[in-house]
Amino acid sequence: MCGIIGYVGKKSASPILLEGLRRLEYRGYDSAGVAVLDNANLVVRKKIGKIDEGIARLLKAQPVTGKLGIAHTRWATHGVPADKNSHPHLDQSGEIAVVHNGVIENYDKLKQRLLATGHKFKSDTDTEVLAHLIGEHYAKRKSNPLTPALSPSDEAREPDALTQAVSDALREVIGTYGLAVICTDFPDTIIGARRGSPLIIGIGKGEHFLASDANAIVAHTKKVVYLNDYDVATITPENFEVSNLGADTANVQISNLEFSHEDVGRGKFAHFMLKEIFEQSQTVQNALRGRLDFEGATAKFGGLNMTAAELRGIDRIVIAASGTSWHAALVGEYLIEELAQLPVEVEFAHEFCYRNCPLEKNTVLLVLSQSGETADTLAALREAKRRGHRALAIVNVVGSTIARESDGGIYMHAGPEIGVASTKAFTSTLTVLSLLAIHLGRMRNLSAKRALEVLHGLEALPEQIEKILAQNESFKKLAKKYAKANDFFFLGRGYSFPIALEGALKLKEISYIHAEGYSAAEMKHGPIALIDKKTPTVFLVPQDAMYDRTMANLAMIRARQGPIIAIATEGDKQIKKVANDVIYLPKTLEVLNPILASVPLQLFAYHIAVARGCDVDKPRNLAKSVTVQ
Ligand code: G6P
Repeated sequence: MCGIIGYVGKKSASPILLEGLRRLEYRGYDSAGVAVLDNANLVVRKKIGKIDEGIARLLKAQPVTGKLGIAHTRWATHGVPADKNSHPHLDQSGEIAVVHNGVIENYDKLKQRLLATGHKFKSDTDTEVLAHLIGEHYAKRKSNPLTPALSPSDEAREPDALTQAVSDALREVIGTYGLAVICTDFPDTIIGARRGSPLIIGIGKGEHFLASDANAIVAHTKKVVYLNDYDVATITPENFEVSNLGADTANVQISNLEFSHEDVGRGKFAHFMLKEIFEQSQTVQNALRGRLDFEGATAKFGGLNMTAAELRGIDRIVIAASGTSWHAALVGEYLIEELAQLPVEVEFAHEFCYRNCPLEKNTVLLVLSQSGETADTLAALREAKRRGHRALAIVNVVGSTIARESDGGIYMHAGPEIGVASTKAFTSTLTVLSLLAIHLGRMRNLSAKRALEVLHGLEALPEQIEKILAQNESFKKLAKKYAKANDFFFLGRGYSFPIALEGALKLKEISYIHAEGYSAAEMKHGPIALIDKKTPTVFLVPQDAMYDRTMANLAMIRARQGPIIAIATEGDKQIKKVANDVIYLPKTLEVLNPILASVPLQLFAYHIAVARGCDVDKPRNLAKSVTVQ
């Protein structure tokens, strides 16, 4: 989704901003822009389209100089993608520039008030209203430097005046924001603020950065401050100060980024998505590292922040998540209910927030999120906490808002995931959920024998994933064969049902082919009407407890001439007779099959998208991390 980078220091701002924008590209965007201050000159360049063809080309044709600037990638919420709606936006005076992530919910009311006092707007965005509002407050402070928040000796031109004007404006705003503001009166100051949309300060030597995402600045510094909601930061080359709109002092902590800019490169791979698919034997290993306890026949975690007695006291778990993480939650439900015999309910994070579902006293909320920033998921976490429940999280991005606000949790340790379509974070979430199910199960009725069986199964996964990845060329051939189909079904039962949903989602996300994931058993109650010889079905048929029944469902598709691509277990000869094509997976336990089965589905979607000429890492309309509700 929208991304922000800001720079103030001794170097030329424009190349740093442009490079930062490129590193934010993966989040999904439709336009990009920069505003640079060259002493008292404010220069804005913005352009719809991809960075290389848009803003980069514009900056080459019309370069900007200056050592302070802010930049933005926009993912449209208010106003269609267009040059005029791209950020930065200026205030009425043209001296203040603003970039903004999030949504100003009361923007229309504010706009009407500003229009009535003579303000003129050039775009359809809520952000421009915010820029004008800041401008209005700044003009007031300029004309009346004795406005209460300034001491009588203050001059309106002290940076404090701009910080105060931004704070005054934000007090009027309902909604979410991560924003950066610059003003011609302060050629060495950037103001940043956050509520609901992430923003961090990067600390350098004689230079500082602002960014919505650490990837944008990790090449320059690893020392960062994660701003909290209602924080307002004032940064200059030598200094940064943070105040909080709701508290006397801000809670400022300097953290170290755990990854380097090499980790966010593509390496030898054509796309980030492919690189991340290929990283999975390693990332599953990382999720397991230090957590397998063969002696105690259990899994161990450092950060759940709950005693054994408290964990034992849980009566029910509600898992809330969005997108791919929601599919992981469905697998989590099966795992925890089977291994721990603990009731689990899975909710779309946004539904959980607004449908007022009853939560019993000993219910714990568990949220799953790769980014740790998804607005719907964060809102679910806050809602559970507001209601007095403990909220745990499984998160990938260290230091993200969900990681910081949860009562305890487990990191995936999958490293930065850049491809918009989530892959390695999905299998890492499933790995962590399997461990959690064992941990909770061993406090209840799970036998040591069964737990050890699953622990050994988990230990074998990285090597088995390697074996699947080694078949990449055959998946590519298969994808080419089916790349022209317009509709697909993905079917599975039991543990394979959520994987069918995820397989369909991967395909539609990056290839724009209509794909439906369905329960193989439920298919006969309606969707089977859509089966014909032009509609292939990817059938998940592992040799598990449901095998015979799944095969019966498969026969129904076959009888209607639907082509079948089966994802089956090594050694299954029966399947060859009824499927058009078969992908074999190494044998694992039924509970772990989702992890292995995800890999060929990811590669299948990837190769189909490439064969159709789609932009795999930047699919249309999608954002990596959706920070609006
Ligand atoms: C967006 C992404 C999806 C992702 C979902 C949840 O919609 O496009 O790929 O699954 O957000 O993201 P999270 O970071 O919370 O797992």
